[in-house]
Amino acid sequence: MSKPRLAILISGRGSNMLAVADAVKQNKIAADICLVLSNKEDAPGIAEAAKRGLPTQILERGAGINKGGNRDEYDEQLLNAVDKAQPDLVLLAGFMYIIGEKLVETYYGRMINIHPSLLPKYPGLNTHKRALANSDKLHGLTIHYVTNDLDAGPIIMQKSIEVMAGDNEDSLAARLLSYEHSCLVDTMALIVQQRIKLVTDADGKAEVLIETKIDD
Ligand code: GRF
Repeated sequence: MSKPRLAILISGRGSNMLAVADAVKQNKIAADICLVLSNKEDAPGIAEAAKRGLPTQILERGAGINKGGNRDEYDEQLLNAVDKAQPDLVLLAGFMYIIGEKLVETYYGRMINIHPSLLPKYPGLNTHKRALANSDKLHGLTIHYVTNDLDAGPIIMQKSIEVMAGDNEDSLAARLLSYEHSCLVDTMALIVQQRIKLVTDADGKAEVLIETKIDD
């Protein structure tokens, strides 16, 4: 049986994408990466992906004088680029763009995002800064299915970490990042095996089903 095809969308460093790519290579995640797409030409992650021989594409929103241009046009280009790779699953790993509705709807239940906060706390940007400013004792990460509500789709898993005395944004972000990598790899491994699914319950509500085995 062929492996599920995975497209990964990034905008920057791409460390989560690389953690997944490594796990794919080691067969910890039984998938094929069919696309790594960046909306930033200078994203370090896209160069790393290319170095590893992964199929890459840069798709910036507007170029030259059109920079930052038409959103609808970009959404369509993005949908076409993703569709062309024929992914079974789409992972947003630090993709700094609010995806258009049609793309979200096309991949509903198959598009996953990793967010560096304990959602519903701190959707959007500057999550570490906001956790510190509020003197939170706990911070963390969330992996969730993507819907049209920003950072608010059905939650698959969360991991909390303690905020330590003396933490600053950098130290907190760095400590959380290593958990992002391990949690994302574990979660994607289960998703590709279809042991995590987004289903609709009897009341029409979206529900995340997680099948674990006794020996897990
Ligand atoms: C991560 O913190 C991820 O949770 C967030 O953006 C950051 C991306 O980091 N969505 P990287 O590009 O994967 O290193």
